[in-house]
Amino acid sequence: MIEDDQNAILDLYRDADVVIWSFPLYCYGMPSQLKAVLDRTIPLVKMNMVRQPDGTVRHEALVDFSKIHTLVICGCGFPHWEGNFDGLKKMCEVCFGNPDIVCVPETPLLNVPEAAIVADPLLEKFQKAGETYAAELRLSAGTVAELEKPMISAEEYIRNVNGGT
Ligand SMILES: Cc1cc2nc3c(=O)[nH]c(=O)nc-3n(C[C@H](O)[C@H](O)[C@H](O)COP(=O)(O)O)c2cc1C
Repeated sequence: MIEDDQNAILDLYRDADVVIWSFPLYCYGMPSQLKAVLDRTIPLVKMNMVRQPDGTVRHEALVDFSKIHTLVICGCGFPHWEGNFDGLKKMCEVCFGNPDIVCVPETPLLNVPEAAIVADPLLEKFQKAGETYAAELRLSAGTVAELEKPMISAEEYIRNVNGGT
């Protein structure tokens, strides 16, 4: 038995209506520190295995996961390219059921003061989307598409990262 903050996290998880996982993309997945938190939610299920109607197999839950709305927000350092988030999305879909997932490219721009002209409008969209999510506990496909729209073109982003040449 390890006595650390994970016990408090498990208590929060048991009572949660909403769980938001927000993190940067590391090597096409969740950062290992956060993955350890996820791995250590295993006490929320029994070892018994149950075949699901969709053919998947799950452990019998000790918590009513169907009442928990899961939102995954992930930023990444590459410009948009097809497939960068595929591994993460698959893992989240299998792990969390049917979560809302927002995958944002070019997020280091959010920390660059010179990029405020393109970053601030995105942050405003996130603010509004957060309000909608709080009210509806769902994000529409249109809202997700807006949040995932690159701030600048891939070529301009690559040029800037490479020193503007
Ligand atoms: C170890 C590591 C792995 C990363 N892997 C990816 C990756 O697979 N794809 C990507 O687009 N960005 C990747 N990045 C970039 C980060 O997602 C991006 O820079 C993010 O803004 C970093 O946030 P942080 O400063 O909070 O760690 C990686 C960064 C680090 C440090």
